Amino acid sequence: MQQNTKKTIITSALPYSEAMPHLGNFVGSILPADVFHRYEELAGRDSIFICGSDQHGTPIEIRALKEGVSAEHLADSVHERMKKVFESFECSFTHYGKTNSESNKKAVYEIFEALDKNGYIKEVESVMPYCNIDKRFLTDRYIEGKCPYCGFEGARGDQCDNCGRLLSPQDLIDPYCGLCHNKDIEFKKTVNLAIELDKLQPEILDFVKMRMGAWSRNAANKTVSYLEQGLEPREITREMKWGFPVPRKGFEDKVFYVWFDAVIGYIGISMEWSEKWKDYWKGPDTELIQFMGKDNIEFHTMMWPGILIGSGLGFVLPHTIYAYEYLTAKGLKFSKSRGVGLNMENALEITGPDYWRFALMYLAPESSDNDFTIALFVEVVNKIMNDKIGNYVHRVLTLLKNSGLKASELVEDEKSTDKVAMLTRKYAEDFEALKMREALRELVAIADVGNETISSSRPWELIGKDGVKLGGEDRAKEFLGGMVSIVRRMGVLMWPFAPDASSKILKRFGISEPRLSDLKKPLKELNLEGLEPVFSKLSDKQLKDLERFEEDS
Ligand code: MF3
Ligand code: ZN
Repeated sequence: MQQNTKKTIITSALPYSEAMPHLGNFVGSILPADVFHRYEELAGRDSIFICGSDQHGTPIEIRALKEGVSAEHLADSVHERMKKVFESFECSFTHYGKTNSESNKKAVYEIFEALDKNGYIKEVESVMPYCNIDKRFLTDRYIEGKCPYCGFEGARGDQCDNCGRLLSPQDLIDPYCGLCHNKDIEFKKTVNLAIELDKLQPEILDFVKMRMGAWSRNAANKTVSYLEQGLEPREITREMKWGFPVPRKGFEDKVFYVWFDAVIGYIGISMEWSEKWKDYWKGPDTELIQFMGKDNIEFHTMMWPGILIGSGLGFVLPHTIYAYEYLTAKGLKFSKSRGVGLNMENALEITGPDYWRFALMYLAPESSDNDFTIALFVEVVNKIMNDKIGNYVHRVLTLLKNSGLKASELVEDEKSTDKVAMLTRKYAEDFEALKMREALRELVAIADVGNETISSSRPWELIGKDGVKLGGEDRAKEFLGGMVSIVRRMGVLMWPFAPDASSKILKRFGISEPRLSDLKKPLKELNLEGLEPVFSKLSDKQLKDLERFEEDS
């Protein structure tokens, strides 16, 4: 029998390539997925991290029309920008693809045909507004008019932006076409294809019952309440031009609904990555771990497993569905749609990726919404990253250099090791439970142990600028042994959160691909050339730059 077939697929919700994500979007899915992927690598596991741009859908089509470019051009250009910015944030994707690709089209068609063959696709009739001038159906947002509740003039077919009520196109008074603004609109019958989630409900229910224990609480709760209401057939086609054409007679003027090809995108993007995609998606022992924002829950816990089960093609089902709450920024310009404010691109103009990654994970909205403020960011950077971690590492390495001792001569003392070993175990347990924010706090606690040991050991009595003071060599070896191995440990454990600083530290130890098992190895010679702190406090200039993004109140 083959050993070690265990594999992990890690995914993050695919961001819409309509506008650039802001920091709240980033910490709500891609960043925790990346942090977890890096942990899986630390633990020496066989894992892939799949993500990409979600390129179809009405908002992209509308924006492209407004800007006078093709939807494909818009979606691809935002895709390129997103890909670049995620790289700059040190995201460790195995593959970052996009949904509008040949491989995804292939996956969508194959799965659609299988669902159809297995009897889970049916035609459903509905009545939709149609513009006689543009000669097209006007889906939700394409039609506007007067709100029947508050009288607001620019209400859309799906919702009134003034009073917030959900609407359907028929509710609008004096509707007009959102494209040409004419009122030559009629309501016509149209037929769409739907996936029969009602038929799949028993199997979806079994799946949910079996797996839900490993999900975030919000995902489990929402899903249970949806299932209690009973699932209904869900349309998977739309009256639009932008999207994959529906390969069925009579549906030539329709495309697949964005959510259908988006979730299948996880597979399509993996197919584009490598031939090896099958070993993961159809492996006998694969765990699929999916991160997303809370607004994506229902698509992932019901529609997506419904698609996978109904296809009968043997794909793995999600093992863990982890949904984040929102990171808000009430006092900040933090907006995606308005295009102004602190976004992923200008954040990096202020300071490097480590600072954002670390602070965002420290404040991650794991079980409730959280508010991000500049003051909190400054506190995490200055008081934790700089004062606790950066200073510790720098002091210890400077002491080692001054001592003139070789790392291989050092002996680990007992004083701090128990506590540090316990915190490291907790760090790993937190990760296994996807409590990454807690894991980061264990790392900070390890720095606390280091700092406390330094202050209580009075190293200045032991080591001077030019070596170990008379008679103190044994004590110095012991003291430094403990402290230097904590530095290495912090380098390794920091790798998921702050990969640049981690690499800088670990390079001195000759480690380029860190593993948890490195922590057990004896210390070898260190490279102590050009010592400088791995983190620094935010400068006055950086603070000024940040304040520009505060809302004037
Ligand atoms: N594009 C969606 C969003 O940003 C997420 C899609 S997740 C996927 O909310 F699985 F469908 F791709
Ligand atoms: Zn029109």
